[in-house]
Amino acid sequence: MTSKRRVGTARILETVHSAYAPGMDVTGTNIVVTGAASGIGRAMARRFAADGARTVVCVDVNAAGVAGVAEEIGGRSEVVDMTDEAAIGSLIDRIEAEVGPTDLWCGNAGVGANGGVELDNEVWDLNWSVNVMAHVVAARHLVPRWIERGGGHLLLTASAAGLLTNLGTAPYAVTKHACVALAEWIKITYGEQGVGVSCLCPQGVRTPMTEADGELAIEVVKAMGMIEPEDVAEAVARGLADDSFLILPHPEVATYEQRRAGDRDRWISGMQKLQASLPGG
Ligand SMILES: NC(=O)c1ccc[n+]([C@@H]2O[C@H](COP(=O)([O-])OP(=O)(O)OC[C@H]3O[C@@H](n4cnc5c(N)ncnc54)[C@H](O)[C@@H]3O)[C@@H](O)[C@H]2O)c1
Repeated sequence: MTSKRRVGTARILETVHSAYAPGMDVTGTNIVVTGAASGIGRAMARRFAADGARTVVCVDVNAAGVAGVAEEIGGRSEVVDMTDEAAIGSLIDRIEAEVGPTDLWCGNAGVGANGGVELDNEVWDLNWSVNVMAHVVAARHLVPRWIERGGGHLLLTASAAGLLTNLGTAPYAVTKHACVALAEWIKITYGEQGVGVSCLCPQGVRTPMTEADGELAIEVVKAMGMIEPEDVAEAVARGLADDSFLILPHPEVATYEQRRAGDRDRWISGMQKLQASLPGG
């Protein structure tokens, strides 16, 4: 990969200089984006292709959508359900054999839910499966390869909900917190063995996921200000170049997170007031 994480002398020199130039250049790399049929995944896939990636593999359950994106950017499309553990393993084996080493894996496919603890276990299970376990399974297959090769990068699309919360949706808030925790854990555990990790945590982004009206979980996202998927792709490009762990397309999320950590009781009461002020709250 053209990441500045390499092996041998180059890597030792780069370790010395890592405070200055640790990031990733996507030129000539093989990149996989899950959830690439629309929204943030599609924008990232387009951006990586425009920035000179060698191959962008677009993965989704939406066969027509993902085929269209792959065709548009000259990439490869794969129809895989990220709840299917065996299918994720086969996908990674297939890509490594037919495309080449995976330099960057963007675990971006995600699902939401409208409601709280009253929601059925099936809804909770789906959120756990797509928003957390798909990333665990992908990392299980990729991290050993990356350690052996001396480089590779995992980008997980969590959400500001994973640093703060998301009013109106317990499964989403809880599983996105788990996603952030997973990304952090992988970086702490394997970061010094060449495994780069980024955790993308946007607030509201105008995508099919945020189209519905009248659902508290989505109304709160709209109320906080929406950005476009292309803005997220721009933040990702900058975050990868800087090797930032947290990629925050809405910079104010950093302040909210500090406020939450600084005085949890005050933050909770602020969230209760916000909830009461919203349609559906
Ligand atoms: N839109 C927002 O405001 C927002 C904010 C923060 C985080 N996110 C996160 O961004 C990511 C992308 O969402 P988006 O907003 O672009 O919405 P989106 O609906 O456009 O994209 C989600 C994609 O994931 C795919 N997907 C869902 N389940 C899948 C499965 N089991 N296997 C394979 N693919 C599957 C969908 O088909 C879809 O193409 C998600 O992880 C979401 O949680 C979105």
